[in-house]
Amino acid sequence: MTPIPVAVLVSGGGTNLQALLDALHDSPVARIARVIASGAAAGALERARRAGVHTAVLAHPDDPGEVVTATGDAQLVVLAGYLKRIPAAAVAQLRWRVINIHPALLPAFGGPGMYGRRVHSAVLASGVALSGATVHYVDEEYDRGPIIAQWPVPVRSDDTPDTLAARVLEVEHRLLPQVVVELARLGVPEGPVRLSAKGSAFVTGDNLAVDLDTAADGRTGGRADR
Ligand code: GRF
Repeated sequence: MTPIPVAVLVSGGGTNLQALLDALHDSPVARIARVIASGAAAGALERARRAGVHTAVLAHPDDPGEVVTATGDAQLVVLAGYLKRIPAAAVAQLRWRVINIHPALLPAFGGPGMYGRRVHSAVLASGVALSGATVHYVDEEYDRGPIIAQWPVPVRSDDTPDTLAARVLEVEHRLLPQVVVELARLGVPEGPVRLSAKGSAFVTGDNLAVDLDTAADGRTGGRADR
């Protein structure tokens, strides 16, 4: 099997990009072919260069043609801390091939302006006992596309936005590569795919294993309702 080319879009430090680079290093299923930044200052670019991955910086992130061209031959496009909106015409052209990771359990605590520390502050202010990470398809609205996979992270009573962010980020680093591998195995879908956790999705103690349920033939246990 030839690994499918994956493009990763970034705006920040790129720890999720690093998790992908590390996890897919020798993967027969998927490889990071290019890293595209919304600005030259993104620390993630250095991680890509160190890994010998082709990089590009978008001059006009709101230009759909430029975004689509930058993704090249990628069959899967991963937004990993990418803070710009993908223009609607690019979303339409890349339908069901662009995914995003968000540091909360969507559809709560998402939408315009909900990124970084703000997400975790809002989670703590709401009093919920559970947060987590969500990987979802990108559509025309911020953080609203169909959910592919989620992993919960309990909120502790003494959490600060920073302590909660750190635990959610650890889960993100496990969940995102696993979702990318499963989607690469499934190939380009005609519609959204849902990956469910095996058994209970609760993380016990320090066990951060993320165990997605896949049927023996490699298809997902269940497809998302259309
Ligand atoms: C992550 O928390 C991700 O969920 C969100 O932006 C953050 C990116 O962090 N979309 P990093 O750049 O991967 O370290």
